Amino acid sequence: MSKSLNLFLPAAGGTALVLGAAYGIATSQYADSAVDSMSAQIEIAEAEAAKATEAATAELARATELEMKALEIQDAARRQLAAASGGSVSEPAPRSASGYGLGRKALPEEIAAWDIDVLPDGRGLPKGSGDVFTGEEVFAEKCASCHGDFAEGVDNWPVLAGGFDTLADKDPVKTVGSYWPYLSTVWDYVHRSMPFGAAQTVTADETYAIVAYILYSNDVVGDDFELSHENFLDVQMHNATGFIVDDRADTEYSIWRSEPCMENCKDSVEITMRASVLDVTPEDEGADAAEEQASATEEATSEPTVVAAVDPELIKAGEKTFKRCASCHAVGAGAKNKSGPQLNNLIGRTMGGVDGFKYSDVFKAAAAEGRVWDEESLGAFLTKPKAYMKGTKMAFSGFKSQDDIDAIVAYLKAQTGG
Ligand code: HEC
Ligand code: HEC
Repeated sequence: MSKSLNLFLPAAGGTALVLGAAYGIATSQYADSAVDSMSAQIEIAEAEAAKATEAATAELARATELEMKALEIQDAARRQLAAASGGSVSEPAPRSASGYGLGRKALPEEIAAWDIDVLPDGRGLPKGSGDVFTGEEVFAEKCASCHGDFAEGVDNWPVLAGGFDTLADKDPVKTVGSYWPYLSTVWDYVHRSMPFGAAQTVTADETYAIVAYILYSNDVVGDDFELSHENFLDVQMHNATGFIVDDRADTEYSIWRSEPCMENCKDSVEITMRASVLDVTPEDEGADAAEEQASATEEATSEPTVVAAVDPELIKAGEKTFKRCASCHAVGAGAKNKSGPQLNNLIGRTMGGVDGFKYSDVFKAAAAEGRVWDEESLGAFLTKPKAYMKGTKMAFSGFKSQDDIDAIVAYLKAQTGG
């Protein structure tokens, strides 16, 4: 790998040099003969470029040739080395003497220790056997504390038996017996990863016995059954035919891949609801909060407030600004609580005062103290909600501009719910 890179780099460098020269010639000649016709210039430049390309191509070909030669020599050397050390030619290339000196050949024992997978066709099964009776004893000793004496599962530990005819239910009981299609999975899983916390401490024969017992617990075999590497493939699992090969690529994808309809579309798309408004992710007791919010609305809107005359332009500006609040707050006739309380008659209203709305503690405290919203406090709150009401759950970072605040305060002042 590194060899071929080394060979390639000079070739690439050469190409760049030649192209650079071609460019230099082209520009200087252009400056000298500005009066000459444009087409003559282009011709010269093209000729130079062609020459450069030719040279680069030749150099690349030469580099490739050298590279091939180097590979051949490497290969020959590898064969010689392999022959000398008695190894096989299919082995990966030995590191050169000047290599990093890392690693060593894995021992056969090490490979065997890793290579423990058992496939549905029985490949990977070690020789051995075990019967239901022995299995029951081993299971009682090593597995029953979690999976129960009869593989029925203790507390919330997995159930290994039963659950037949539940696969089509809303809440299927998927056990080795009801669900697993291959016996090899049971053998492999138990041998590889159980008992939980002491994996790979059961021997091959113990595993045969345990698996025989699990089969017995699932009415797949009788109590005199002995499982071995020889009769392993004879066992028919209950759900062996319950899985199908995913054929959606052939049967379904084409249906969904037709041209999308792009006719009679809406003129514009706008966001009409947000997840926070719908209470999809309620902060705490969202469900009953929503109910209480609804009932609280009428009481809160019942008190009329005298509205001082304000600049209608300012109110208009505030109406626009309120768009930033409207996903959480409602105002006007019949305004209901959303994820924030309705804001009618806000000036003069007790802070945290909408009955039934689930305020945060800081608002509850303000209500208990009888604090009341006025223009000043509202302005301060909306400048930095989290600073003014430490611990508020209102997710609004605050206004930076005083104009916005003046406008929104004027607008809210005018909202009487009438
Ligand atoms: C300390 C508790 C514990 C012990 C002891 C234990 N297991 Fe498990 N077993 C588990 C847990 C937990 C799982 C689920 C593991 C997971 O999903 O990653 C499990 C999963 C299994 C499963 C797969 C169940 C399924 O449907 O996915 C089998 C089979 C199994 N154990 C067999 C055994 C056998 C056999 C033994 C005894 C050699 C044993 N277990 C001992 C806790 C235990
Ligand atoms: C993401 C939702 C959300 C947005 C956006 C939002 N608020 Fe709030 N607001 C709330 C929540 C929730 C509360 C209750 C706060 C608490 O209990 O800590 C609240 C409380 C308030 C209160 C106190 C009400 C009372 O009854 O004491 C006012 C005033 C207020 N918001 C005004 C505004 C204004 C004005 C805007 C727009 C600039 C705005 N909010 C934007 C969710 C929001």
